[in-house]
Amino acid sequence: MFTLKTLKFCFALISAVFLSLPASQAQTVRLGQAISESQLSNFDLVAGPDGSGFPAGSGTAKAGKAVFDSKCAACHAANGEGVSGNTKLVGGDIHSEGNPLRTVGSYWPYASTLFDFIRRAMPANAPKSLSGEEVYQVTAYLLFLNDIIDEEEILNKESLTEVQMPNKDGFVDLSHLH
Ligand code: HEC
Repeated sequence: MFTLKTLKFCFALISAVFLSLPASQAQTVRLGQAISESQLSNFDLVAGPDGSGFPAGSGTAKAGKAVFDSKCAACHAANGEGVSGNTKLVGGDIHSEGNPLRTVGSYWPYASTLFDFIRRAMPANAPKSLSGEEVYQVTAYLLFLNDIIDEEEILNKESLTEVQMPNKDGFVDLSHLH
């Protein structure tokens, strides 16, 4: 017979099962750990043509040669001439009759992009390992190898945005169409 006593017993049993579940398992969603400010700053590295996002520091091509020789030349060759099609960093002619050779010197419209790319992606085998100073130095060296700045010119947050890249007018801005 289904008596009140049995009903009470069932209720007690069900409550006991629920109450015995560990609180964390029943209520907490496990989403991992909060990211710290210092971890976040290593992702927030966008440096733009308007001069925003650059670190303090400066460098010349003269100083950049040492950085390039020890950390870049293995993949980009001694003078940036490259060891394969996509590792050429110097030369090129965007107006050539045939297929144009696009390098950071002949193609990229802003020097800031060179800094930005190196800081985030190079050396390819150890990205983000260079100091801000080293990135300024090696950026200056690549601009020098492309005959865009002098060996002694000091590259910093301000002077970098003033560098005139050869192909700066070679792009059509279609961003208003999107
Ligand atoms: C382990 C090999 C390796 C090392 C070391 C290396 N790079 Fe690269 N780098 C590459 C490769 C491969 C590419 C082409 C990547 C691609 O096209 O996606 C590249 C691309 C680049 C580009 C863009 C070229 C373009 O026109 O798109 C720049 C600039 C550059 N590297 C600079 C540097 C600098 C400066 C250093 C030293 C601090 C360095 N790299 C060290 C392998 C390397």
